[in-house]
Amino acid sequence: MSENILKDRRVLLIIGGGIAAYKCLELIRRLKERGAAVRAIMTKASHEFVTPLSVSSLTGDKVYTDLFSLTDEAEMGHIELSRDADLLVVAPATADIMAKMANGLANDLASTALLATDKKVLIAPAMNVRMWTHRATQRNFETLLADGVDFIGPNEGDMACGEYGPGRMAEPAEILAAIEAHFSELAYPGGGPLKGKRILITSGPTHEPIDPVRYLANRSSGKQGYAIAQAVARLGAETVLVSGPTILPDPPGVTVTRVETAREMLAACEAALPADIAICAAAVADWRVASDAEQKLKKAPGEQAPALALVENPDILATLSQMKGKRPALVVGFAAETEKVIEHATAKRQRKGCDWIVANDVSPATGVMGGDLNTVHLITREGQEDWPLLPKQAVAERLARRIADHFVTSKAAE
Ligand SMILES: Cc1cc2nc3c(=O)[nH]c(=O)nc-3n(C[C@H](O)[C@H](O)[C@H](O)COP(=O)(O)O)c2cc1C
Repeated sequence: MSENILKDRRVLLIIGGGIAAYKCLELIRRLKERGAAVRAIMTKASHEFVTPLSVSSLTGDKVYTDLFSLTDEAEMGHIELSRDADLLVVAPATADIMAKMANGLANDLASTALLATDKKVLIAPAMNVRMWTHRATQRNFETLLADGVDFIGPNEGDMACGEYGPGRMAEPAEILAAIEAHFSELAYPGGGPLKGKRILITSGPTHEPIDPVRYLANRSSGKQGYAIAQAVARLGAETVLVSGPTILPDPPGVTVTRVETAREMLAACEAALPADIAICAAAVADWRVASDAEQKLKKAPGEQAPALALVENPDILATLSQMKGKRPALVVGFAAETEKVIEHATAKRQRKGCDWIVANDVSPATGVMGGDLNTVHLITREGQEDWPLLPKQAVAERLARRIADHFVTSKAAE
């Protein structure tokens, strides 16, 4: 099984004529990054919102629009176009496309391909809140659900038209996650290799208050931990993510508890036990301010800057690793180092008492903190594995597979 569930999957993206069409460019980019082959059909109306040139530059393929184009039919007929795909995704799905789909209309290439397909269809509706809540659209929504069409969104929020409510298209990352979930389900019909395992993951930074408006923090974005949560959930694990403050959306299928400080993070982890596996990817602050001020610290002319006295925070990785009774069977820590990465990470594994350490070089030149790529070394009792530079999602998938394999191997050894 490939580590990247999207590799070589063929996605037919149908782009409808709505403001959110610009977001499909980001979706195509992300799908391509993950190795998927993307072909696009654009409705005529969608050309008003995003250019076929932009779409074809990103898909690396021609864009299809016209049902009666002889060249299209010669190269790739409309039936073949939808049959050739592994999945059809409509984003944005306009009220108009939904109405056509619900009623079996086929009066342009997009609707004809949707009617001719024998593949799963995932749609991401996007429209004004009144269009979405209109009885006609809701009727079409119910019909499409009954027909087995999958939906992602719409989300609630501010709309381009200035109104607020449901109708915003799901973000590209959410659509991508839904596409990945679809292919995971195909790959593991009865549940993945981590089915039956409960996994606790920490992610993101912590914020340690100085006063009601200031805090000590670090540059962790949470991207790596969130990607791991998503990857293990896709392999069937019951996944609990304890997250410090991040701007990332909750990964689908994951129970998320959001916290601010290291002490809150520890309490949330303890409350989430028992777990079979703990993965501590959070960048927990080592220290907090000894006594945070109840009121905002004020600057007064002529006064010296206040000195911050720090005290040590609880060590979440060491606490979970050295726990009696409730210790997870596998505890994985992360080591963010800026020098002597392997040496420091190896020492950390022994000092904390965890089973594995994922070591990464977070010195500023690497761009790892907050970036999308990571080069990691997996340090176990048996030795060290050097993984190549990979997108954080690929690191997450590789780690998830590695954990699944570990449990298969340890079971076989029993
Ligand atoms: C500026 C503008 C924005 C629009 N945005 C949306 C939208 O977000 N969702 C929608 O369902 N229709 C929207 N429409 C209406 C569609 O473009 C229209 O229904 C069109 O016929 C849809 O064609 P298609 O479904 O073939 O893409 C918008 C129209 C205009 C002029």
